[in-house]
Amino acid sequence: MFNQRIKIKEVLAMVPGQGEITVMGWVRTLRNNQFIALNDGSCNENLQIVLELGSFDESLLKKLTTGSSLRAVGRLEDSQGKGQRIELKARTVEILGGSDAEKFPLQPKKHSLEFLREIAHLRFRTNTFGSVFRVRHALSFAVHQFFHERGFVYLHTPIITASDAEGAGEMFKVTTLSFDQTPRNEGGEVNFKEDFFGRPTNLTVSGQLEGELAAMGFAEVYTFGPTFRAENSNTTRHLAEFWMIEPEVAFNDLEDNMNLAEDFIRYLISYVLEHNRTDLEFLDARLAEEEKQKPQAERSETGLLEKLESVAGQDFERISYTQAVEIILQSPAFKKKKFKYDLAWGMDLQSEHERWLVEKHFKKPVIVTDYPKEIKAFYMRQNPDGRTVAAMDILAPGIGEIVGGSQREERLDMLETRMREMHIPVEQMWWYLDTRRYGTVPHAGFGLGFERMVQFVTGMTNIRDVIPFPRTPKNAEF
Ligand code: 4AD
Ligand code: MG
Repeated sequence: MFNQRIKIKEVLAMVPGQGEITVMGWVRTLRNNQFIALNDGSCNENLQIVLELGSFDESLLKKLTTGSSLRAVGRLEDSQGKGQRIELKARTVEILGGSDAEKFPLQPKKHSLEFLREIAHLRFRTNTFGSVFRVRHALSFAVHQFFHERGFVYLHTPIITASDAEGAGEMFKVTTLSFDQTPRNEGGEVNFKEDFFGRPTNLTVSGQLEGELAAMGFAEVYTFGPTFRAENSNTTRHLAEFWMIEPEVAFNDLEDNMNLAEDFIRYLISYVLEHNRTDLEFLDARLAEEEKQKPQAERSETGLLEKLESVAGQDFERISYTQAVEIILQSPAFKKKKFKYDLAWGMDLQSEHERWLVEKHFKKPVIVTDYPKEIKAFYMRQNPDGRTVAAMDILAPGIGEIVGGSQREERLDMLETRMREMHIPVEQMWWYLDTRRYGTVPHAGFGLGFERMVQFVTGMTNIRDVIPFPRTPKNAEF
C-alpha cells in the first residue's frame, strides 16, 4: 500500500514525539536547500519539511523545485524557527514528479486572477483557489444537508430536454445531425425526425418544470445540477454553464417561498462560518487587500466576515417591485442621472439599480416581489391586479440577483391563456399542464445560482473565479 500519508491539515494539529509519519504533496518553495514548504490542498498552511544539511544528495535537492511533488517520511519536531509551531524532520524524501522550474507557470509570487484564469488547470495549487474551492465544496454539502434535514427529495432532472423552461430562447442545441448534409423536409426546414431524439432538443436552462412534476407527488423536492444558458453576456456574474439549486414545494405560497429561501441562504452562510473559518479568514484578508487597491469612493465599507455575519444574523428586507421602482426614482442618485440605464414602472431593474438598492439604500439583502407580468416567465402566478405576478427575486450586496423564484400558476385556464399569449408551445407541454388537470395545488419554488452564492460567500469579484473551469462566450478551454 503506497498511500499511508497523513494530510497536512491533520499533521499541523499533531504534537511531536510520536513515531515516523509520511506526508505527500507539492513543493511550494525550497529555502536554503534545507526548508521545504509542502502543500497538499487540505489547507492553505504549508508543512515545513527540514532536510539536515549534508544528509541529502545534491541531485535530489536540485529536483526540489516549486511545483514538484514528493513523499517525505520523518518525525515531527517542535520548530526552532519562526512562522510554524512544528516541522517534519525528514529521514527520506522521494520525488514523485519533477517540475521544470524554468517552465512551471506558477511562481512563488503574487499572480493576477486574470493570469491564473489562463492556467485554470494549475490554479488549484494557489492559496486563493484552495480556499475558494474548499468553500465551494462545503457549500454544496450544506445544500444537501439543509434539504435532507427538512425531508426534501433530491431529484435528478434531465440535462437534455425538449422544452425551454424559462421561455427565453437562450438554449444550446443538442443534435447528432451532420452540418454538411443536414436532412431537410420538402419545405427546406431541417428534418428533426432524423435526429437522435427524433425532435429538436437542447441543454436544460432549468430543472424547474420537472421539479414541479415531482412536487405533485413528493410535495417537497429540490434539484441541484448544471444548467446552460446561451446568453451572450460577458459580465462578472454570468456563465454559460452554471449550477443551480431549485426547490419546489407543494402547498407553499409566495411568503412560504420567501421564508424558505431566506432560511436557506442564512443556513448556508452559517454553515461555512462554522466549518470553514480559516479559509474565510484568508479570503477576508485577500479581499481587504484588493479593496485597498481601489479608489476610496469605490471601497466597500464592510469586510467579508463582517458582511457574512451580518447577513446570517438579520432578516432580509422585503419590498414589492412597485415600491422598489418608487424608491429608485426618488433617489438622489437617479435624479442626478448617476445610473446608466433609465427606469420606469414596467421595465426590468438593471443590475446597477439592484445593487444600489441593496448596497446603498438598505445595506442588506432585499427580496423584491410582484413584478410586472410582461418581464417574467409564463409559469408565474398572476396576481388579482391583472398586471403583476407572484414573483420574487433576492438581491444580495455585491452580486445583485442571487435568487429568482415565484408562486406558480396552478389554475389551468389562466396558465394556458398566458402560455398562448407568450407563444409557449402548449400542445407540446401537455405533460406540464397535466399537473394542473389532475390534483393541482398551490405551489412555489425558486432557483439559487450556486456560483453567485459562492461569489457572495468568498468575496470573489468575478464568477469565473468560483467555478473550476468557466464556460463563457468564446471560452471553453480545459
Ligand atoms: O432567475 P432564473 O432564470 O430562474 C429560473 O431559472 C427559475 N426556473 C428558478 C425557479 O424558480 N426554479 O435563474 C435563477 C438564478 C438567478 O437568480 C441567478 O442567481 C442564477 O440562477 N443565474 C445565473 N448564474 C450564473 N450565470 C448565469 N448566466 C445565470 N442565469 C441565472
Ligand atoms: Mg431571474
